[in-house]
Amino acid sequence: MGEDVLTAFGFTIKGEAFDYVWVWYTVLFAIGCCLLSILGSVWCLNHIRFATGGSLGGIEDTAKDSDEKEESTLEMKGATITFKNINYLVQASTTKEKLHLLKDISGYFPAGKMTALMGSSGAGKTTLMDVLSLRKASGEVTGDVRINGHPQESNSFRRMTGYVEQFDVQSPQLTVRETVEFSAKMRLDESIPIEEKIKFVDHVLAMLELDNIGGFIVGSDTGGLSFEQKKRLSIAVELASNPQAIFLDEPTSGLDARAASIVMRSLRRIADSGIAVVATIHQPSVAIFNSFDSLLLLKRGGETVFFGDLGKESFNLIEYLECYSSTTPIKGGENPATWMLTTIGAGSAGSGSDDLDYAKAYANSALSKDCLEKIDSMNEGVTEEGRITFPTKYATSSRYQIREVYKRQSKVYWRSPGYNRVRLLVSGIVALLFGSVFASQRVPENESDMVSRSRKNDEAKFLRFLLLTTVCLACFAELSSYVNLYHCALPRC
Ligand SMILES: Nc1ncnc2c1ncn2[C@@H]1O[C@H](COP(=O)(O)OP(=O)(O)OP(=O)(O)O)[C@@H](O)[C@H]1O
Ligand SMILES: [Mg+2]
Repeated sequence: MGEDVLTAFGFTIKGEAFDYVWVWYTVLFAIGCCLLSILGSVWCLNHIRFATGGSLGGIEDTAKDSDEKEESTLEMKGATITFKNINYLVQASTTKEKLHLLKDISGYFPAGKMTALMGSSGAGKTTLMDVLSLRKASGEVTGDVRINGHPQESNSFRRMTGYVEQFDVQSPQLTVRETVEFSAKMRLDESIPIEEKIKFVDHVLAMLELDNIGGFIVGSDTGGLSFEQKKRLSIAVELASNPQAIFLDEPTSGLDARAASIVMRSLRRIADSGIAVVATIHQPSVAIFNSFDSLLLLKRGGETVFFGDLGKESFNLIEYLECYSSTTPIKGGENPATWMLTTIGAGSAGSGSDDLDYAKAYANSALSKDCLEKIDSMNEGVTEEGRITFPTKYATSSRYQIREVYKRQSKVYWRSPGYNRVRLLVSGIVALLFGSVFASQRVPENESDMVSRSRKNDEAKFLRFLLLTTVCLACFAELSSYVNLYHCALPRC
């Protein structure tokens, strides 16, 4: 047959379809193909790039060139938060006693300043931030929290602050710009025109150095933005609500020195715009530690060891701790953050000065008294101007939110071809399954046909029930995966 085909196409030598020389022709042909493929691959590798996390084909990055950009007229301003004698108790899960997680913590987070929350693991840093930002649903909180001297009011406080969780989740199918825009649309007041919101998003992206990757898709762990870019995106999502204070839980953990310095640069820019920045921080480098303006140092058990301005190159902190005779003086070139944790017994070495309780020493110190006096003076003679109130609980109406979520979800589905293919396949299989129930059925002609059809109907009902249950279970699974996702983007109740 092969010879017939060769003859039909005229591949004959001296009238014979097969000749031994064909073997060498085919070897030469294979070598030629190989060479062509290699050269083609080399050219493609040199000229075509598929960078992970790269711009999504067909999706325009609406970012304008910097010279075309118009300044946002939305003003960024900050608020000063003071807190006095904060105590937090929770019921222990195994015993009946109550756990005293935060003990008489006082301090203030001034507008336009960066405050670091530090302490050993389990000292209560996240708990303190959660308590102050009203995120604790259980337990007993006592103490006085004031914003610009006015008592903390839950609805307005939630609208005026941002909280960047340690592991925030963003939608992998959306671009950086779309993610921040969604947050701005949902969390900036509905009365603000959309053009203004977009201009504000431009401003936020520029502040966080995300403007050049605005058109990049967020992607998942296997491809997409780097961990550090995702961290900055989470900060941008919170900043898009134009908060007056922003809380960040370990913004630099898991980042290398270069990535951490980019995040810190962005935080400094946010603080310089007037917003109060509060961040818990773990094992910072000297440069990162020195970039904070003040420090709240906690000890295991939720007690304050130090609160105050760090001073130039942590001078105030070093001076304060070294005034105790039991403190080993800091060595030249030593990281003050590591030294301070070792001194109070919270460092990796675990050994501190055994004969001095630094928490008790702080409670009796002049520094603690100064702090309380400063809080009182900040809260004296407050003006109505500083009161932050919002007319509604949420920035946007439910109708607006549903419309935006629907638009966003449509985009997510559109960009998930794999998921859509499976859905189409499942729909086809289900349709065939239902159809097969009636495959042998004709138009009923007699009573027995009618009985058989009603039996088939019962079978179809059973199939429908099975299908509905499966769909419901799938929906719940899908819903639970979105709870985290929307938690960071939707206004919180
Ligand atoms: N709801 C709760 N019930 C019981 N214990 C709790 C509760 N919330 C926090 N804790 C405990 O309070 C302590 C402080 O926790 P927290 O998460 O605030 O520490 P952290 O300083 O943020 O630590 P890390 O540096 O590891 O993040 C921990 O010992 C934790 O187990
Ligand atoms: Mg924590």
